[in-house]
Amino acid sequence: MDQYLIQVAYNETNVVGYILWVVKGGYKRCITCELEQLAIDTKYHRQGFASSLIKISLIKFQHLLQTRLQYSTLKIGIVYLTTGCTNYSAQLLYKNTLEVEQKGDKIGHIYGTNEYGEEEIIMVNENLEPIIEKFEEEYRTLKL
Ligand SMILES: CC(C)(COP(=O)(O)OP(=O)(O)OC[C@H]1O[C@@H](n2cnc3c(N)ncnc32)[C@H](O)[C@@H]1OP(=O)(O)O)[C@@H](O)C(=O)NCCC(=O)NCCS
Repeated sequence: MDQYLIQVAYNETNVVGYILWVVKGGYKRCITCELEQLAIDTKYHRQGFASSLIKISLIKFQHLLQTRLQYSTLKIGIVYLTTGCTNYSAQLLYKNTLEVEQKGDKIGHIYGTNEYGEEEIIMVNENLEPIIEKFEEEYRTLKL
């Protein structure tokens, strides 16, 4: 299954950032996705753009998959991502939004190291359904 979503965030005039989600597998009713890439322009950091982009794009991605796969009860059940072991701001962002936790040790044996010699870690949430429901509720009440 090769499905992905790229969403770009704008303010009134400029591109502020983007996110890329990819389906990695799972059964048709319950899908596993990876948050592949996320970046916000430094000018707009700490204004809630990344949090909102994660929440809104995830709602949209689930809906898109339900429509594309013609399976209205399909859910994104598991989300994982990799990030730098010292990228504490990103780790905090992901914990606070997706409620992911680190699984296992560093994964330099898979991805190697970055220019600072740092390895990546994997963060996972294996029970994402209530999280997406919470995002949908926030969206309905326009808290996003
Ligand atoms: C990580 C990144 C996407 C965060 O984007 P952002 O729009 O600034 O994030 P938000 O404003 O939505 O922050 C949400 C929460 O994440 C955490 N957070 C984000 N940036 C942080 C920082 N620099 N220091 C500490 N906590 C941070 C905080 O808990 C924050 O909530 P708060 O502002 O109420 O304290 C952004 O810093 C970025 O693009 N970094 C470079 C690319 C990158 O590292 N991408 C992730 C690769 S896996």
